[in-house]
Amino acid sequence: MDLGISGKKALVCGASQGLGYACAQSLVNEGVEVVIAARTLVNLQQAQLALEQAQLQWAQKNHSKAVGVHIQCVDVTTQQGREQIKSTHPEIDILVTNAGGPASGDFRDWTRSDWLDALEANMLSPIELIKAYIDPMISKGYGRIINITSSAVKSPLPALGLSNGARAGLTGFVAGLARQSVANGVTINNLLPGTFETDRLRANFTHQANAQGVPYDRVIQDRLDKHPAKRFGQAHELGQACAFLCGVHSGYINGQNLLLDGGSFLGS
Ligand SMILES: NC(=O)c1ccc[n+]([C@@H]2O[C@H](COP(=O)([O-])OP(=O)(O)OC[C@H]3O[C@@H](n4cnc5c(N)ncnc54)[C@H](OP(=O)(O)O)[C@@H]3O)[C@@H](O)[C@H]2O)c1
Repeated sequence: MDLGISGKKALVCGASQGLGYACAQSLVNEGVEVVIAARTLVNLQQAQLALEQAQLQWAQKNHSKAVGVHIQCVDVTTQQGREQIKSTHPEIDILVTNAGGPASGDFRDWTRSDWLDALEANMLSPIELIKAYIDPMISKGYGRIINITSSAVKSPLPALGLSNGARAGLTGFVAGLARQSVANGVTINNLLPGTFETDRLRANFTHQANAQGVPYDRVIQDRLDKHPAKRFGQAHELGQACAFLCGVHSGYINGQNLLLDGGSFLGS
């Protein structure tokens, strides 16, 4: 299916690897010009090279020219980082917000500063990015905003209180905004990953294995045994869902929280 977005421009945050990278890759495969942001330059450069290759292939196949893959080496949770992106790329058609998630733990140990950091990273930064980019999208009559949040929005994990709280705040805010922007062709939706095989997931399992004093493979197997799909999600599966929501055919999908968890959440 042609998603009808070749030539459009996207900013994908947290995109040197993992779920953000997969979103950038799926958009590149649709002929979208992408700006990828992350904090580690060498990883960004590697991602840029791989995406440029994919873009070249797309261009050859479609008798078109490669539209560009740009990098922004910034921390998107800082005002300075966001301003740097905005000043280099003042207008985009597609915004994918994403950054690392807060640490797990016991809420009794969290300070006010821990809470403010989590709110900054997983609630206020996406809102600031949306604020920076939504009005030009509204003026042009086309925009797609996707926030990568977490399955914990629907099914909170007790140890991930900082994430549960901050992401719930973002979800509530965009639910209202999506109803205001859609009449001007701008949709806002959230992707809620369950367990996707990324570096972050591997780090979480390593932490869990060390904390419980059990082998890493056992932690993985225990999790898979309880999972209805008996496998973890692959990043490209989320990337493809992201690209679809960014496409011209998705203009009537708005204000949704799309769970990608292989059916783990026991609800209909
Ligand atoms: N994987 C899962 O199963 C899963 C499940 C639920 C929720 N999530 C959420 O989905 C998001 C992405 O997870 P992932 O698994 O793709 O993680 P990942 O593999 O660790 O990738 C994270 C990406 O974001 C970048 N990043 C992190 N913090 C950033 C910041 N402040 N500014 C700019 N870039 C930043 C990282 O690069 P740098 O470190 O170089 O900046 C990297 O490119 C996280 O918020 C995570 O909590 C993931």
